[in-house]
Amino acid sequence: MARKIFIAGNWKMNTTLESGAALVAGLKETLAGIDTVEFGAFVPACYLGATAANAAGSNFQVGAQNMYFEPKGAFTAEISGDMIKDCGATMVLLGHSERRHIFGETDELINTKVQKALADGLQVILAIGELLEERKAGETNAVNERQLRKGLAGVTAEQMATITIAYEPVWAIGTGEVATPDQAQEAHAYVRSILADMFGAEVADATRIQYGGSMNPGNVENLLAQPDVDGGLIGGASLKVEDFTALITAGVAEAAK
Ligand code: PGA
Repeated sequence: MARKIFIAGNWKMNTTLESGAALVAGLKETLAGIDTVEFGAFVPACYLGATAANAAGSNFQVGAQNMYFEPKGAFTAEISGDMIKDCGATMVLLGHSERRHIFGETDELINTKVQKALADGLQVILAIGELLEERKAGETNAVNERQLRKGLAGVTAEQMATITIAYEPVWAIGTGEVATPDQAQEAHAYVRSILADMFGAEVADATRIQYGGSMNPGNVENLLAQPDVDGGLIGGASLKVEDFTALITAGVAEAAK
């Protein structure tokens, strides 16, 4: 099964209206015509509409970095799936380690968001990954399995067609310390085995698993060469036209193999 490589930027709480527009304008130029790799970015909520408008007419997909599971109401500062779509965005990132570890989001809360995002027709990227102390304690597989099983509880095999998993070892995020290709492959293969157990081999085989954590133009090639690594979720390197273009170009090269 050929899974289409998917490279997504995570701008986090970075960019301004102006720098985000310049980034998209630059990428539209360098990535024009590329359709063998899917790409896009999760942008700050306040820039969703502007970014989607800037990306219109290109293959650059725009997503939100979070959402709430209720459709509307008295939930100060939260945004809904309908609001994300209303801005012209098509995807949402859920369960990022910063949401889990800085803002205390639990597997159960993340699961309610996953279910609502799917019901709203958004493409979902569910991020999972172990802390350094969990890896050191030999708990990597157990943590990833728990986050997967709880995060995807109630999701149907059919709905899995609009879900991408992002495996992001927390110790590699923003640290410059990237997982080795072997470490990434081992975790990705394990994730796929759990997906097979939950949804069957066919769904597991079709589901894309991105690697995230200090991915950059220097290490992307060896990571994408791993059989179970189907793309990347990129923070720092997604904020520069040159670096993000290099990551997608590496994806194009891998897809052509
Ligand atoms: P990084 O972030 O590429 O800056 O390590 C990745 C992420 O948090 O998604």
